[in-house]
Amino acid sequence: MSTTTETKTEVEKTAIELISEPLTLQCGLTLPNRLVKCPMQETLAIGPYFDPPMEAFGNLYSKWAKSSYGLIITGQVQVDRRFLSVAGDVCVHEKSLESDILAIWKQWAQTAQSEGTPCIVQIAHPGRMSPMGAGIRPADMPALCPSSVPVKLGDSWLDKMALEKVLGTPKAMEESEIDEVVAMFVHGAVVAREAGFAGCQLHGAHGFLLSQFLSPYTNRRTDSYGGSPENRMKLLRRLVTEIREVCPRPYCLSVKLNSADYMDAGTGLQQDEGLEQVRWLVECGMVDFVEISGGNAENKTSGLHQSFGKKTIDKAPKMRESTRIREAFFTEFAEKVQSLDSPIPIQLSGGFRSRTGMADALDSGICQMIGLGRAAVLEPELPRKVLLNPEYDDELALGMSHIVRGQWLSNMVPIKVIGAGLPIQFFYYNMKRLGKGLSSDPDASIPYVIAMSIWETVSSGWSKSIQQVIATISGGARVKME
Ligand SMILES: Cc1cc2nc3c(=O)[nH]c(=O)nc-3n(C[C@H](O)[C@H](O)[C@H](O)COP(=O)(O)O)c2cc1C
Repeated sequence: MSTTTETKTEVEKTAIELISEPLTLQCGLTLPNRLVKCPMQETLAIGPYFDPPMEAFGNLYSKWAKSSYGLIITGQVQVDRRFLSVAGDVCVHEKSLESDILAIWKQWAQTAQSEGTPCIVQIAHPGRMSPMGAGIRPADMPALCPSSVPVKLGDSWLDKMALEKVLGTPKAMEESEIDEVVAMFVHGAVVAREAGFAGCQLHGAHGFLLSQFLSPYTNRRTDSYGGSPENRMKLLRRLVTEIREVCPRPYCLSVKLNSADYMDAGTGLQQDEGLEQVRWLVECGMVDFVEISGGNAENKTSGLHQSFGKKTIDKAPKMRESTRIREAFFTEFAEKVQSLDSPIPIQLSGGFRSRTGMADALDSGICQMIGLGRAAVLEPELPRKVLLNPEYDDELALGMSHIVRGQWLSNMVPIKVIGAGLPIQFFYYNMKRLGKGLSSDPDASIPYVIAMSIWETVSSGWSKSIQQVIATISGGARVKME
């Protein structure tokens, strides 16, 4: 470790100066620096109400609060407790504004913002990505989707059978159900405000409900919510407008969007349409920043899912000598967004590990905020300890690799809906450790994590059937059985 950071940009800003610069959003919120803890579902809440589990969140969020991020975004909070995306999602519900439940939410907001870093709540609905048994819904109630398009993951009969069991065929939403969802999102935004969070972010990426409306692959409607790029945006436009009416500035409102969903043969959202969606958001005058991501759980050929097993850099590249921002997954799309000359900041998420890679991205103007996901689980204190710490040379200011050990197990499982979802369990497992006040265990392998998950499921006295264990691993119920 040396004592100074020598890399300079044309404007004579060092890498550390670039990432340390405060940023004031249009809502008036000032972020102390450019590093954002990405939304990551913690999978720690317990049904039937899935309120914020403060015993674990006390540890987890105070860790992030003390780690000098410029902004913290919570894991996705579901707006309807019948439909979770994975076991243990936090939910807002009909009682969330009652004083005893709101008190828990206030405690969460207080903990997350205890050191002065603002925190916003990501609110979401999984749509067709809601496994049977996740959330409080009758076994025969299908997941919701703009159109009845089942999830496809693998072509074998085993894949098809497992998918039918886990996700089933979603139901195309009636207009009244869309109205209900809008009201639930607005309620979520209000709960976040009343709890004392600085704002909220709408989850419009990764193949969840809003993204299902935005993509022509899942939105095949012929009414005013589908049929054209303009119509596919109607739900998102309604949400932004109706939340803004109820939660005016200084409440912060953000949207996370996909650059593209990378579905086969161009059947999904393409970058040109994704760009028009960003254009509306940055020009509508109601949103304070947009986070850009990509891909979805149904198609794991891009970004996050591809990189669990991919070896990346060992040493931070020098600024300007690096192959320019290539460390980030969605650079190409971010460059297109840059051409919009956005009046609001863009957060780019996915793939960042090095201080210089982050500084290069900021310096080039493709984004103004840097999202850190897996790094915030593996090394929650990375900003304070390393990235913003001048004692670390640029060359050494680097988060650890995101490679997950034991990938062979996920490749061996013949059922894709289970196998493909295993690497992410490693991060859930580590968030659980942080929630217990332990440190992350980057060496834990997938088989070990799965064994622990099965052990916990069985030993906590839940249903011991094989089906329940599979449901847990593939995203199903975390509901306390009486
Ligand atoms: C365990 C885990 C949970 C995640 N949960 C969410 C989520 O709730 N909402 C969301 O928008 N993205 C979620 N993501 C995606 C991250 O926000 C981020 O976009 C992604 O991890 C890429 O960033 P990274 O390369 O820094 O990890 C999740 C990612 C991981 C690894």
